[in-house]
Amino acid sequence: MDKLRITGGRPLNGEVTISGAKNAALPELCATLLTAESVTLTNVPRLRDVATMRLLLDNMGVQSETHGERGGMSFQAPDSLKPEAPYELVKTMRASVLVLGPLLARFGHAKVSLPGGCAIGSRPVDQHIKGLQAMGAEILVEHGYMVAQLPAGKTRLHGARIATDMITVTGTENFLMAAALAEGETLLENAAQEPEITDLAEMLIAMGAKIEGHGTSRIHIQGVDRLRGCTHQVVADRIEAGTFLCAVAATGGDVILRHARAEHLDAVIDKLHDAGAEIEAGDGFIRVRASGRLKAQSFRTTEYPGFPTDMQAQFMALNCIATGSSKVTETIFENRFMHVNELVRLGAKIQTDGKVAVVEGIDKLSGAIVMATDLRASASLVIAGLVAEGETIVDRIYHLDRGYDQMEAKLRGIGADIERIK
Ligand code: EPU
Repeated sequence: MDKLRITGGRPLNGEVTISGAKNAALPELCATLLTAESVTLTNVPRLRDVATMRLLLDNMGVQSETHGERGGMSFQAPDSLKPEAPYELVKTMRASVLVLGPLLARFGHAKVSLPGGCAIGSRPVDQHIKGLQAMGAEILVEHGYMVAQLPAGKTRLHGARIATDMITVTGTENFLMAAALAEGETLLENAAQEPEITDLAEMLIAMGAKIEGHGTSRIHIQGVDRLRGCTHQVVADRIEAGTFLCAVAATGGDVILRHARAEHLDAVIDKLHDAGAEIEAGDGFIRVRASGRLKAQSFRTTEYPGFPTDMQAQFMALNCIATGSSKVTETIFENRFMHVNELVRLGAKIQTDGKVAVVEGIDKLSGAIVMATDLRASASLVIAGLVAEGETIVDRIYHLDRGYDQMEAKLRGIGADIERIK
C-alpha cells in the first residue's frame, strides 16, 4: 500500500494548476448514459474515482476512449447496454448511485447496488429513491440492489415536483438527469446549489435539455424526447483549490493557483482572509500569500454557498497551528471528525463533542506516522505533515488518490519535501 513521506517546515512558492472537479466529472460521466451519441468531456481529472466510474460504464457496455494530455475522454452509450451497476464496483465509490437516474430515464429500468456504509456517515439514498418514485419509477430494494422499472405500459418517467427532506447534491444531480428525458415538467425544490450542479446542468443544456434555475434552490426542467452528444469542459475543482489555499496558509509562502475559480470559494477565502492570509483573485487564478502563524477561525459547515464540509478537515489542520482557539461545527455528515485523532498524534490539541470540535492552536506539530481514513481527512493530514517538525508518514493514501490529481507532484512543484513510498 502506498504511503507519503513528508518532511515539514518548508514554505510553498510558485504555481499550481488546478484540475477538473471530481464531483462534477463523476455525474458528467453518468450523464453520457443519456444519449446514444458520442459525448466528449475535457479537463477530466486523473483520479481513481474517475477510473472506477469509467469501469462501471464500461461494464454496462459504454465505449470510451481517452485522448490527448488534457483530460479528454469520449463516451458512447449504445441502445443495447446492460443497465446494471454491480456491488463490487459500487461499494468502492458511493457516487455510482448517479447512474440510477440516467439509466431509468433512458432505458426504463435499472439494477443498481445500494452503496454500503461510509467512513464519514451513514449516507442513505432514500431521497434519491423517493424522488425517482415521484417521477413514476417503481423501485424495490432486494438482495442489496435497487431494482427500478417503469409501470407496465409506460416508456418514460414523468415530470414531478420534488422537495427533498434535506439538500442533497447527488440527489439533485440524479433528478436533473432523470427529468431531462422525462415526459413533462419537473420542479426541484430545495435543490443543491453547488457549482458542480450548475456545471452538470450546463452540460445537459448543451445536450439539448431544457433547464432553468440551476445554481438556485429551485430548478425547473422541461423534459425532452431525446438528448444529443456534446463536448463539455469539466469545471475547476474548488475543493482541490481550497486545499492548496489552506496548505499555503499553513506553511507560509506565495503561490498562484491557475485555472482556479475564486467565486466558488467565497466562504473559505473569507475565513482565510480573516485568518491573516493575503488572497488576490482574478480571471482564472487565485494568489495566496501568508507568513507566520495565522489567527484561528471558527466555522460551521453548511451547503453551498456556505463553508463546504469537504474543506472542514483541511481548515482544521490550519487551525491546529494558528494562534487562539476555534470551534469547528460539522453539520452535513455525522462522523466527519475521523482526522481528529490522527491530528492529535501529530501533537494537535483538539476535543470533540458530537458535531463540534474545539481546537486549541499550538506553536508547532511534530511529525509521526498517521493513517488516512477518507479523502478529505487525508488532505488534512498532508497539510499537517507539511507544517510538522520532522518526518510524517501518511499511510493508506489510496483515499487521496481517489480524489486528488497528482497531489504530491503538485506539492513538490511548489517546494514541498514530499515523496510517495511504494
Ligand atoms: N442524505 C440522506 N438521504 C439521501 C441523500 C442524502 O439522508 O438520500 C443526507 C446525507 O447522509 C448527508 C446529507 O444528506 O447527511 C447531505 O448529503 P449529500 O447527498 O448532499 O451528499 P452526497 O451527494 O452523497 C456530495 C459529494 C460529497 C460532499 C457532499 C456534501 C459527490 C460525488 N459527493 O455527496 O463529496 O461531501 O455532497 O457537499 O458529489 C468528497 O468529495 O470528499 C465528498 C464526500
